Amino acid sequence: MGDSTAKDHDYTKSSAWDAAAAATIHCMTKYNSVSRSAYSTIFQGLEVNRPFSNATTILDIGCGPGIGIEVLSESFSKDLPAEFVLKAIDFSPAMIQALEGAKLNYINKGIAKEIWSKVKGEVLDVTKMNTIASGSVSHALANYVLFGVSDSSMAFQEILRVLEPGGVVAMTSFSKVGWIDCMGSIKGVIDRELKFPTMSPTDPWTTVDGVKQKLDTAGFIDTHAGEFEVVMEVDSIKEFPYDMMDVPSLSAVRSALTPEEMDRGAAAVTDTLRNNYTTKDGKIKIPASCIVGWGRRKPS
Ligand SMILES: C[S@@+](CC[C@H](N)C(=O)[O-])C[C@H]1O[C@@H](n2cnc3c(N)ncnc32)[C@H](O)[C@@H]1O
Repeated sequence: MGDSTAKDHDYTKSSAWDAAAAATIHCMTKYNSVSRSAYSTIFQGLEVNRPFSNATTILDIGCGPGIGIEVLSESFSKDLPAEFVLKAIDFSPAMIQALEGAKLNYINKGIAKEIWSKVKGEVLDVTKMNTIASGSVSHALANYVLFGVSDSSMAFQEILRVLEPGGVVAMTSFSKVGWIDCMGSIKGVIDRELKFPTMSPTDPWTTVDGVKQKLDTAGFIDTHAGEFEVVMEVDSIKEFPYDMMDVPSLSAVRSALTPEEMDRGAAAVTDTLRNNYTTKDGKIKIPASCIVGWGRRKPS
């Protein structure tokens, strides 16, 4: 899954995420219903499997600019104990810088200060979480992260290692992404082959069974996977194609287009949005299907 076209666009590397961080953060923030809905699903799953009232350390893996902390503070602050550690890691220094900016902003404004002041951001790769002690995490989560990691079995082993016996993990991936289909309208107006990302139905990350099997194989118990829907809400159909073109999975396509082709492609995307994604209330909403999986480290 994801972009696999050229080395410059290899998003298994932190340098690629760093280079794309400004554009990605812009999109994640502007179209934040996508991350917010998924984080809500993750937190609800974690709460059911191990109530947050028992949290010791919560670890947000691949935290990006901190949308997960926002959702946690808005929806679960009353469930959290007085004392717990809140770690947010990302292998991109630019993402951690954005997280620290969000933390400062929330603390200065006095919004959810008690949660944000606990946040400890760190530049760390999920496959080598050397600074996190074994058996120290009660709740681990990774929203839209693990399918893009080059060695996901190593990531799972690291998550198992840092979890306490009985600790829980929840993670998400995509199974069908409407906004990538939508951007595919560009192919109809450009007369040469463009390498759009494809999601193979045989990719385990795109299926409920595949995700559950990954968790089982990694050694988690009480595993479960299920599908859920998210919706991307689009306020400006003119800005949307240009915003989307800069996200990691499409940046290789963007580099292959001339400015004139980009404008022509954007007009095609705008038409598709207007014709196919306008809801009865006149809003533009693009759906996507996602997979959530969770599991537990065996109690000792
Ligand atoms: C699609 S973004 C999701 C960000 C955030 N979880 C959200 O949903 O708003 C993926 C994030 O995972 C991070 N990431 C990718 N591979 C990683 C790895 N091996 N270790 C740590 N972070 C990683 C990227 O830098 C990026 O911030």
